[in-house]
Amino acid sequence: MNDRRPDDMVRITTAELADAYIGEQLAALREQIGDKKVLLALSGGVDSSVVAAMLIKAIGDKLTCVHVNHGLLRKGEPEQVIEVFRNQMKANLIYVDATDRFLDKLAGVTDPEEKRKIIGGEFIEVFAEEARKLDGIEFLAQGTIWPDILESEAGIKAHHNAGGLPDDMKFELVEPVRILFKDEVRIVGERLGLPANMVYRQPFPGPGLGVRCPGAITRDRLEAVRESDAILREEFAKNGLEGKVWQYFTVVPDFKSTGVKDGRRTFDWPCIIRAINTTDVMEVTVEHLSRELIDHLVQRIISEVPGINRVLFDYTPKPPATVEYE
Ligand code: XMP
Repeated sequence: MNDRRPDDMVRITTAELADAYIGEQLAALREQIGDKKVLLALSGGVDSSVVAAMLIKAIGDKLTCVHVNHGLLRKGEPEQVIEVFRNQMKANLIYVDATDRFLDKLAGVTDPEEKRKIIGGEFIEVFAEEARKLDGIEFLAQGTIWPDILESEAGIKAHHNAGGLPDDMKFELVEPVRILFKDEVRIVGERLGLPANMVYRQPFPGPGLGVRCPGAITRDRLEAVRESDAILREEFAKNGLEGKVWQYFTVVPDFKSTGVKDGRRTFDWPCIIRAINTTDVMEVTVEHLSRELIDHLVQRIISEVPGINRVLFDYTPKPPATVEYE
């Protein structure tokens, strides 16, 4: 299997090129793995989903996928992972609902870096616990892609790899999309039969909704983030903005303000809408929504999401503001 992207590799832009890549990879995977067993942490994100689909085709039930629900996923995501991979693709899928474990550990933690550390550390812990229960696993599959390699070589970021697992867990790596760019991974995923809303998803950070619930995460405020995010995504899809705007989400900060509803005083959170575009993520511009859409979003969010009495729109580009709030 190629470790490095060949200089003369043609960019995969068509179904034919994707099919040819899939054909080569399936043969290479079968040769590398033989009749041994492979483990994959399946987040439901684009890269790990495409790796799962590829391995299911190549080795079927010799692949075991573990989906850890840390309780910070978007509305409907764990359900979609189960539906697509277990029900439709017949994958060997272990689903771990670790919501309580994560939220208990995060309770009262306000520091953003500390929150990220807890989420990352706990994720590895839960995954390693599941891996230890399994017999005879020799390979670990990963959704490493070519930009991860380039960025880690350039010292920009350490790409996610097996380095995080405890020392006693040694696996050989299987990385079937390692030499692909993101746009190529998406086409390959589509050709492998994954739903479009899975392969063309907007970027979603590893710590999930945890970074959109600034300060100490509470279950009720987290639910307000999840519900408002679901409304925003639904309205963007209805209004033809899905796939057009690069990233959009809601944030529910940890402060309350006075409002009035049905003649009574309320004291509830605001919900902030962020909708942005970028090419390199270093610089980001704000998507200007129509007045009608903003009015409609405000109406839906204040009437459908418990605990919200005000909706704000974030007009700040990056720099100076980062995309995420934490
Ligand atoms: P920032 O906030 O740094 O975000 O301007 C830039 C892009 O990166 C995403 N992001 C993350 N992705 N793990 C990820 O996989 C993370 O911890 C993380 N933090 C931010 C963010 O959603 C945006 O697209």
